Amino acid sequence: MSGSEVILEVGNLSKVYDREVLMLEKLSFEQGKIYGIIGPSGAGKSTFLRLVNLLEAPTTGNIYFRGQKVALNGKANLELRREMTMVFQKPLLFNCSVQENIAYGLKARRYPRGKIRARVEELLKKVGLQGMAHRHATTLSGGEAQRVALARAVAFEPALLLLDEATANLDPPNVELMERLILDLNQETGMTFLMVTHNIFQARRIAHEVAFLYAGRLVERGKTEKIFTSPQDQRTRDFLEGRMVY
Ligand SMILES: Nc1ncnc2c1ncn2[C@@H]1O[C@H](COP(=O)(O)OP(=O)(O)OP(=O)(O)O)[C@@H](O)[C@H]1O
Ligand SMILES: [Mg+2]
Repeated sequence: MSGSEVILEVGNLSKVYDREVLMLEKLSFEQGKIYGIIGPSGAGKSTFLRLVNLLEAPTTGNIYFRGQKVALNGKANLELRREMTMVFQKPLLFNCSVQENIAYGLKARRYPRGKIRARVEELLKKVGLQGMAHRHATTLSGGEAQRVALARAVAFEPALLLLDEATANLDPPNVELMERLILDLNQETGMTFLMVTHNIFQARRIAHEVAFLYAGRLVERGKTEKIFTSPQDQRTRDFLEGRMVY
């Protein structure tokens, strides 16, 4: 797998609600990397992920997935849906068993039964929840539920995973577990991650590159160590050093 293939690119991507909350002239992401997206509250991080995930239509601009322009007119984009999924801060699980939750996407894609069962077991093992297949989703703790949500999201090996504060509600051991999973998935399958996080230490720990958004704009991006050790923009410095008031 070539590390330099661009998997996702956006151009002149904007979102206007009562005012413009996002405007990204050009931003591209390479396949196989983990990207940390950081920035103060209200910077437009979640909006960006929602647009990429086609949960909302942009006001202007385009999204290119593997060089192909994505239709943003509400068409199903089935191909693309297969290629990316999103995990939110609050685990969204269906009101059924762990097994059914994880199997959901596989069933929809008509995987054979035996294969589904094996895959669910494999995933549960990966997220450290062996033997939990028949538990009802509502009986899980927050950390367990989030791990099931991650297992469900990666069940059919999407090429791109969008994480919006996916570990924000978890205790340190669960955060570590999730980070380990992200790193493993990235290394084993070359999955690309766009990880929005308030936790700049998390970005520093696992992201290959970091993008800093401020007031809907990209202020700077670059290799993680470089952004942390020699940020070029005063606003990035202020943010990383906790001096930004917002
Ligand atoms: N549906 C909406 N209608 C109006 N304004 C919205 C809507 N969704 C988001 N906004 C505004 O857009 C701006 C960016 O919001 P967004 O949720 O993308 O920020 P964020 O960077 O994810 O912040 P946080 O770190 O707090 O999650 C905010 O000022 C928010 O109030
Ligand atoms: Mg947000």
